[in-house]
Amino acid sequence: MNSTKKVIIDCDPGIDDSLALMLALDSPELEIAGITVVCGNVPTKLGCENVLKVLNLYGREDVPVYRGEEKPLSRMLVTAQDTHGMDGLGETGYEVPDDFSVNEGAVDFLIETLKTSQDISIIALGPLTNIACALKKCPEAFKNLKMLVTMGGSYKSHGNCSPVAEFNYWVDPEAAGFVYENLKRPIHMVGLDVTRKIVLTPDLISLICRFDDRKSWFVTEITKFYVDFHWNQEQILGCVINDPLAVAYFIDPSLCEGIDAYTAVETEGMCAGQTVVDAYGFWKKTPNAKVLTETDTKAFMTMFLNRLFPGRASVISKQLDTIYPSFCKVNGGGCR
Ligand code: BDR
Ligand code: CA
Repeated sequence: MNSTKKVIIDCDPGIDDSLALMLALDSPELEIAGITVVCGNVPTKLGCENVLKVLNLYGREDVPVYRGEEKPLSRMLVTAQDTHGMDGLGETGYEVPDDFSVNEGAVDFLIETLKTSQDISIIALGPLTNIACALKKCPEAFKNLKMLVTMGGSYKSHGNCSPVAEFNYWVDPEAAGFVYENLKRPIHMVGLDVTRKIVLTPDLISLICRFDDRKSWFVTEITKFYVDFHWNQEQILGCVINDPLAVAYFIDPSLCEGIDAYTAVETEGMCAGQTVVDAYGFWKKTPNAKVLTETDTKAFMTMFLNRLFPGRASVISKQLDTIYPSFCKVNGGGCR
């Protein structure tokens, strides 16, 4: 039996997208058919350069990269360079490797790959513009899609771009709305309800820094800007790393739990980009989404750190036990 999972990763790197790509590249059960880049955190050209920087860190010039849409379906692009830095990687100044190349035509690559593969999934870590364009252009190709996991939206959590909207769907609500309405199979929505629980705390960043190798320096350096942003914006110590949870959930769905619900994306007015999750079936519509509501933070961190930094399992487990202590009931309660 072939246990590898074939996947296209659509992304807008972005600091947390880069961490998600690292997790994917360190996951032997994933066969990455290609990486497609969409506008979002940064303009598409910069996003492509950042994918190349991550691939260079891994010596993986064999993974094809495709440049996608330059702007949302029907509005101006608003980037998140305040969050990710002008270069999208925390203004770290990593060189773009010149021996790696980017192909044009992410949308056609998505369509052709879906048409010719039986068992392929998409993990979308940015606005859904590329996916919506492919679905509009060739809906039949999506019959072969096994699973769409998207980082985006929120159910009960507040937004991160407006009181109610999450960035990826807020940047291109028309694309997100089109995909939710037309994909015709449940979308796995890894939204802010679960990703807000995935915080790379200062303790964890210090641990990573102690590992003292190329990957650990890269993570330490790119997260500095992100940590400052989180403190200034929401007084969070550390940084919320949304996108790696979508990859981790794709690898191991037991990391999250959720509800099946019809979900729509608001496209107009002050709530643009909001996901409206009909958890109680008011609209009597067949659920089009699995909306994730719970996640096991410690299990995620265990996977993430061990995969990026193999051979350090015991020190990782020791630190995670300190940060996420388990409570044991002794004589009716309390901790030992
Ligand atoms: C999402 O928005 C982006 O800034 C992150 O990369 C993530 O995909 C979180 O709202
Ligand atoms: Ca992203």
